[in-house]
Amino acid sequence: MSVQIQTHRSAEHIARYAGDSIADLVRNDPECVLGLSSGSTPLQTYRHLVGLHSEGLSFRDVTVFNLDEYVGLSSDHPQSYHRTMSEHLFDHLDVEQIHIPDGQAEDLDLECLRFEQAIADVDGVDLWLLGIGSNGHIAFNEPGCSADSRTRVVDLAPSTITANSRFFDSQEDVPRQALTVGIATILEARRILLLATGGSKAEAICEALAGAVSPDCPASYLQDHPDCTFLLDDEAASLLNP
Ligand code: GLP
Repeated sequence: MSVQIQTHRSAEHIARYAGDSIADLVRNDPECVLGLSSGSTPLQTYRHLVGLHSEGLSFRDVTVFNLDEYVGLSSDHPQSYHRTMSEHLFDHLDVEQIHIPDGQAEDLDLECLRFEQAIADVDGVDLWLLGIGSNGHIAFNEPGCSADSRTRVVDLAPSTITANSRFFDSQEDVPRQALTVGIATILEARRILLLATGGSKAEAICEALAGAVSPDCPASYLQDHPDCTFLLDDEAASLLNP
């Protein structure tokens, strides 16, 4: 297994490490391609990046892809990933080339093909920053997904609907479908950083790293990536054998 595991003292240390890794990449290759993710875990990393930008780091020539988006939410809906990413990151940087799947596209399948093509057109992603769902999903690749999956429309698992209902007024308001990059799309990135904090992620982390590669835990597919690092706090790492 080539996955690296790093445990950090706190979520803040993880954010600093992840943000600095992205910043190094941008400094070395100002035209690099970043894959970013929504969810609450990377928000501190984004704050760190915004701080580095205010100190002079430019993202002007960087291209960004976002992992996923809910089907049916407009880009300005408070819980759309489009809006979350704008509020927490894009509005505060000078980045111009931003790709987020359009969950309101008239033809969702075509939108997925367009998104994959846009990634291919820039010769793939240099670094994907990932979170993990408590059911082991990465992006919205739910348990059962295949290793060769590509950007597509998916049904959200009941556990994901429940977990993400904390961001909505009620569980009924959580969209039932999403557009997500696939496992193959993610595995083609040249480098992957997965962030996980808190005890609610401990089981998923254990399954992803200590178990066999299996569709039951989509994050376990990352074991096959040549340059993937899991950045964990002590609680997320608590079920791993030291
Ligand atoms: C969401 C997203 C994932 C994210 C995960 C964990 O469902 N689709 O990309 O990694 O949930 O989110 P959080 O970081 O808020 O726990």
